[in-house]
Amino acid sequence: MSKELPKGFLWGGATSDFQYEGGFNEGGRGISSHDYETDGSKEHPRHHTMKMPDGTLIEPNSSFILADSVPKEAQPVFLDDQYYPSHKAVDFYHHYKEDIKLMAEMGFNVYRFSISWSRIFPTGEEEKPNEAGLKFYDNVINEMAKYNMQPLITISHDEMPVHLALKYNGWTSRKVIDAYVKYAKTLFERFGNRCKYWLTFNEINAVRGFGPTGVRNANGQDRYQADHNMFVASAKAVKLGHKLVPGSQFGTMYAMSEIYPATCKPEDMFHHLQEHRENWYFIDIMGRGYYPSYADELLKRHGVKDLHMEPEDKQTLKEGQLDFIAFSYYRSNTTKKGDDWFNVGGNPNPYLKETPWGWPVDPLGLRYCMNEIYDRIQKPIFIVENGMGAIDKADENGYVEDDYRIEYLQEHLSAMADAINIDHIPCLGYTMWAPIDLVSLSTGEMKKRYGFVYVDMDDKVNGSLKRTPKKSFNWMKHIIETNGAALD
Ligand code: BG6
Repeated sequence: MSKELPKGFLWGGATSDFQYEGGFNEGGRGISSHDYETDGSKEHPRHHTMKMPDGTLIEPNSSFILADSVPKEAQPVFLDDQYYPSHKAVDFYHHYKEDIKLMAEMGFNVYRFSISWSRIFPTGEEEKPNEAGLKFYDNVINEMAKYNMQPLITISHDEMPVHLALKYNGWTSRKVIDAYVKYAKTLFERFGNRCKYWLTFNEINAVRGFGPTGVRNANGQDRYQADHNMFVASAKAVKLGHKLVPGSQFGTMYAMSEIYPATCKPEDMFHHLQEHRENWYFIDIMGRGYYPSYADELLKRHGVKDLHMEPEDKQTLKEGQLDFIAFSYYRSNTTKKGDDWFNVGGNPNPYLKETPWGWPVDPLGLRYCMNEIYDRIQKPIFIVENGMGAIDKADENGYVEDDYRIEYLQEHLSAMADAINIDHIPCLGYTMWAPIDLVSLSTGEMKKRYGFVYVDMDDKVNGSLKRTPKKSFNWMKHIIETNGAALD
């Protein structure tokens, strides 16, 4: 069966503001929750230590909720002996024209990027948005339009103005719903005439694992309350977006590491069902517009006594259902009775090889996911992240022979094409993570590179930031220009 994809398929790449943009204190941007993440490494993961003006340290892994002694409105300071990668990242803020040109050269007709909430509302609570922040994204979108590249905007990529995180303990408070809806409305009014596809959140099923949302290490009650508030915020944004931007299409992005039962022992199978529902919980509620029958049992298992819901929430969830299901796919996992995949992560699979960061490589798992999601939700899907973090060795000109990345993408794109052409899964597009090297989310390293384009910068921010296409650049260009046919 040919791998050529249906006409109109969206080909592109994806990035997030704090991993890519830099310019953290330029153009009136406020401080974002991710700005406190230090660098790290595979061996010594980064953390979110914050030093408050009164000298109090909010230690790594602590939750904002534990920091009762801290004046909630005060802004933490940065530690002199730490490096914060998001402050500079790879400086898309000043390189956007060059980067978009490179993306256009590869033939991208879509580019997924996130807007930095604190660039638009520095504290989240201003009455009026920051014009300079809006202007920056205006410029980005207009630059893309020159190449007929359409935006896919992530409204919040795991972050929020730190002021909201501290003052309200992040998403545990419904006050943040109002702040988010005001922010989303501003984006729809400003960019809606040039943007059809929107993602309300990035990896909503994983985001509560990050301190910045204010619920790290919090108990099940807080976590699931925060999730509920995000469901409502998303649904309200979807309803409003449909009204303000005719023809707009909304998704939320899910972290879909496919999860397999480690054995066919009935106990392991049942455990797998329950672990799998940790993800389905999010997709079911937002994709179907109501809490599923298993929610009660799942919430009890996490020690949730009572979710606070307003009487109108049920209707809001129903009316604010997603139009498509977007997800990231990097790997699969296995689980068996006694494992805690949800909190600790999955186990390796003896049948699969792994990336240098220990992520199992499983192209068929992508086809599996696509089928599974569509079977269940019956809405188009959008693969908005997929790629391989690897250690690239650049020559003296910055050129990288990344055959391993080509192999990874060849296998995953082929599996995607099979899901579309053989299994008839409606799929809107594919945005590869991340077309231009950027800072790793989980470790803060530059060393973990994903791009088709090498950026001359090391883990400690040394480098010229020069961009150089890798071998995979031309390979991907050819795949796109043949609309997938060259995968055969
Ligand atoms: C996804 C995130 O989880 O995975 C991205 O949405 C992230 O922000 C990507 O960069 C890859 O993860 P990492 O840790 O290798 O950067």
